[in-house]
Amino acid sequence: MHTVTIHQVPVLQVGEGCAEAAGAWLVGRGCRRALAVSGRSGRPVLERLCDRWHREGLETVVLPPVPAEPTVRQYEELWREARRHEVDAVLGLGGGSVLDVAKLLAALLKRDEPVTEFFGIDRLPGRGLMLVCVPTTAGTGSEVSPNAILLDETVWLKQGVISRYLVPDAAFVDPELTYSVPPPVTAATGFDALTHCIEAYANRRAHPWVDMWALQGIRWIGAHLLRAVQDGRDREARRFVALGSLCGGLCLGPVNTAAVHALAYPLGGRFRVPHGVANAVLLPHVLRYNLEAALDRYAEVARALGVPAGRDERSTAAEGLARLEDLSRACGLPRGLSALGVRREDLPGMARAALQVQRLLRNNPRSLEEGDILAIYEAAF
Ligand SMILES: [Fe+2]
Repeated sequence: MHTVTIHQVPVLQVGEGCAEAAGAWLVGRGCRRALAVSGRSGRPVLERLCDRWHREGLETVVLPPVPAEPTVRQYEELWREARRHEVDAVLGLGGGSVLDVAKLLAALLKRDEPVTEFFGIDRLPGRGLMLVCVPTTAGTGSEVSPNAILLDETVWLKQGVISRYLVPDAAFVDPELTYSVPPPVTAATGFDALTHCIEAYANRRAHPWVDMWALQGIRWIGAHLLRAVQDGRDREARRFVALGSLCGGLCLGPVNTAAVHALAYPLGGRFRVPHGVANAVLLPHVLRYNLEAALDRYAEVARALGVPAGRDERSTAAEGLARLEDLSRACGLPRGLSALGVRREDLPGMARAALQVQRLLRNNPRSLEEGDILAIYEAAF
């Protein structure tokens, strides 16, 4: 067994209503003035919570809304605005884009270098400010991960800052905040979480300790995602999808994802396809390519999805793949790249771009050359 190093969120609160406790938690840590970061849709919830936190002794400075899938330039505008204020903590409340920006601001608000200097693994020297994350979607797992992703418009590719200093001081996972998430976003973010778990489990760097979260995440999301899409106020479904998303997030630091995410990056970068949608469309095609290289792993994924054991591991694994395609269809997710605005002549450029994401491709159970990536894109077209 190889060694994994796990940088965990020191304080994790999980439960309906727990988001309200985030302000008092910061006050208890000596914080008096927090930078509050959200997206446009999270603004009403943030304002309601800020009122409560003010009464508990926490002042908040509310940053302009973070756009979906923010670019480096958009991040830098927020960073310049945030630097006008003196704060001792950053509190992010939102989906993955919001939390990633909050994490970067907590690390870089007191520094002068541009964020682009820190793209890559372990390049941050530390973090200046206390950081609390409150997810409002169930998908990215950003609240417990060491990753923050921005769209680098110079290369039209998603770039990541990966550092243990991006793991928050506390995360509050409150399924109630996800009740109002509309069905298409529930489906896409849920598939992102499911992809985190599957890619961490069938991964060259898979580890028994991380397998535990990955398999449990697949079980919870597989059994509840469709219900959460069909009825957003299904408390039980929302709860278990939120827990599954948390499992996926816990896999991201020590093992991370693989080829599905690598191939999804150019879709986010060039075509602004939401991250979860890109993953959902590519997942079955990458898995079909990978299947033979990790049959036992994909058979276990199938069992975690509730597939009964077939006559051998190959048939069980194939049945699991079919189950994923059924779930994607039932959740109303798009069925191919052509439905996402991609043209066939775009595919070679996308394959070249995806090949750059070696930090994830090297995790994949089967090696990929540029021609393999192109063939997957063509199959997914
Ligand atoms: Fe993801």
